[in-house]
Amino acid sequence: MAVITTEKLGTSVGAEVKGVDTERLLHDDELPAACLDALEANGVLVFRDLHIDDATQVAFSRKLGEVEVFGRGEFPEIFRVTLDPKKNPSAAYLRGTFDWHIDGCTDDIPIMATMLSAHAVAETGGETEFASTYAAYEALSDDEKERLASVRVVHTIEASQRLHNSDPSPEEVAIWRSRPSKEHPLVWRHTSGRKSLVLGATTDHVVGMDPDEGRALLDDLLARSTTPDRVYRHEWSVGDVVIWDNRGVLHRACPYDPSSPRDMHRTTFAGDEPIQ
Ligand code: OGA
Ligand code: MN
Repeated sequence: MAVITTEKLGTSVGAEVKGVDTERLLHDDELPAACLDALEANGVLVFRDLHIDDATQVAFSRKLGEVEVFGRGEFPEIFRVTLDPKKNPSAAYLRGTFDWHIDGCTDDIPIMATMLSAHAVAETGGETEFASTYAAYEALSDDEKERLASVRVVHTIEASQRLHNSDPSPEEVAIWRSRPSKEHPLVWRHTSGRKSLVLGATTDHVVGMDPDEGRALLDDLLARSTTPDRVYRHEWSVGDVVIWDNRGVLHRACPYDPSSPRDMHRTTFAGDEPIQ
């Protein structure tokens, strides 16, 4: 029996979950499994008007998976996504969120999912866009599916940072390069049997391909995966909570002013399957 009601948002990604409040988040024992099923089916779940505090976000997150820990203090599981360096010392790095990406692509196992709770929103801009990488794979021709089956791609932090900082200092480059690079297949064969494309800002080069040719291939695939008809754009209101399945979704923030009060409280769930 369905314990949640969902309403589709985009053509290939996104659904709004209706009828959930803080009480159900904390005490409905059937809700977590229903949410995880809906997440696998829809890629992105939107809960409007929840207005949860950090304690509720962490408690509900723990019911969905293994919550990652970043900082110290009362809620070390909460990472604040804001361009205000007073609220987050690594705010400058968050400019990388303006490009299509998959979280944690330079890690061995990327995170399973991400949850954002909107505490303050931008006056203009700052929407978050999502595109399904399962749908992107399905849209390939049979010939492409065959040709791309064995392609491997190297992902680096440097590739994603260079998109915003084309004239870095040697110190900046050294910091970027101190982060390990990671080689992944272009096509992720999930344990569920589904297949998705692994693309986004961290793609540095295609293994064994001429660099320009490889770049053109990656750019073309990303552009086709994120055409406006494939994208769900979430326009935030304070109190919204959005969860995305990082295994099957590309996402990006639409630009917003660094002086904007936009403040998202983020929890992330440890990954459960390597890209293979
Ligand atoms: C993230 C991210 C996008 C946004 O938290 O991983 O990319 O809209 N956020 O803030
Ligand atoms: Mn991200």
